Amino acid sequence: MKRIGMLTSGGDCQALNAAMRGVAKSLYNADEAVEIYGFQDGYQGLIKSEFRLLDYSDFTGILTKGGTFLGSSRTPFKTIREPGPGGIDKVDAMKQTYYKLQLHCLVILGGNGTHKTANLLREEGLNIITLPKTIDNDLWGTDMTFGFQSAIDVATNAIDQIHTTAASHGRVFIVEVMGHKVGWLPLYAGMAGGADIILIPEIPYDVKKIAKKIKQRNDRGDRFTILAVAEGAISKEDAALSKKEYKKRMEKLHAKYPSVSYEIAARLAEECGCDVRVTVPGHTQRGGAPCPYDRVFASRLGAEAGELILKGEYGFMVGFQNQEIVKVPLGEVAGKLKTVPPDGSIIREAKMLGISFGD
Ligand code: F6P
Repeated sequence: MKRIGMLTSGGDCQALNAAMRGVAKSLYNADEAVEIYGFQDGYQGLIKSEFRLLDYSDFTGILTKGGTFLGSSRTPFKTIREPGPGGIDKVDAMKQTYYKLQLHCLVILGGNGTHKTANLLREEGLNIITLPKTIDNDLWGTDMTFGFQSAIDVATNAIDQIHTTAASHGRVFIVEVMGHKVGWLPLYAGMAGGADIILIPEIPYDVKKIAKKIKQRNDRGDRFTILAVAEGAISKEDAALSKKEYKKRMEKLHAKYPSVSYEIAARLAEECGCDVRVTVPGHTQRGGAPCPYDRVFASRLGAEAGELILKGEYGFMVGFQNQEIVKVPLGEVAGKLKTVPPDGSIIREAKMLGISFGD
């Protein structure tokens, strides 16, 4: 008999349910008996000992459903060692819940922050298996995370919708795509949506260069320009600031504008006298049904996680490298970001297509 705990932590994304279903089905279909406990709202459920014993029916009919049926929350890693409500030691509380239920393993679905805590629990002696979820695709150790392909669909659709109205009105449009620290999503959605300019955190931009590209397009008779801008797009001037100076600068920016895109819009309007509009699809990018790719991908990762559990192999993230599902030691994953290489082939190819990164 195997006793498994399961939780989803951090920002949700598409295919979380599909991944959990994959783990559960592979275990229920094996010869060994299994009990699966679901923790409510991520690590919070583990800390507060809020769980329920799940059964087969919990995992049926959820392949196509967005969100997570277990609920999720953010439990920042940087405060994990600080006392929780009532002065409790959060790490100790999580361990107590694990031991109380006599779990063989805890399956944790999450992104970067989640993996830091998962690795900490591994270091504290718990058996952990993780699955890589995030629309940002920024987890180290896997070429792809589930949620990413579905989010590309949503963000691309937003750009497609803007294209027609931009063309009708001859305007410059900014579509702000999620991604504070990395630009995989804006890069892929921008390319898929035919954006003329893509701004990502890894490639600091120069407003004058963006204005020049817009002018070139106007001179060529193109009536509109579409920019796909990452939430964390950064100018060359800001990239030169110290961490402290940048934080201050962002505080100032946010006092005036809801996000970087609005400031870029204002600066572009000044630079080239054009009519600039901003559209922010925001959390719609994490919502709705997973695309078919993510359904299959998350199911495969889940099934492989089930196999590791059956073999008693713990301490791994189930990832994807060179078209193969692989197990990656958690200690290698935690705390590292997979960013877009500014000199990588996809950036070179995008530039060959005439896309400007404002650099
Ligand atoms: O990490 C996923 C993500 O959607 C990022 O792309 C985005 O910057 C962030 O979460 C938004 O966080 P929240 O849901 O807490 O507003």
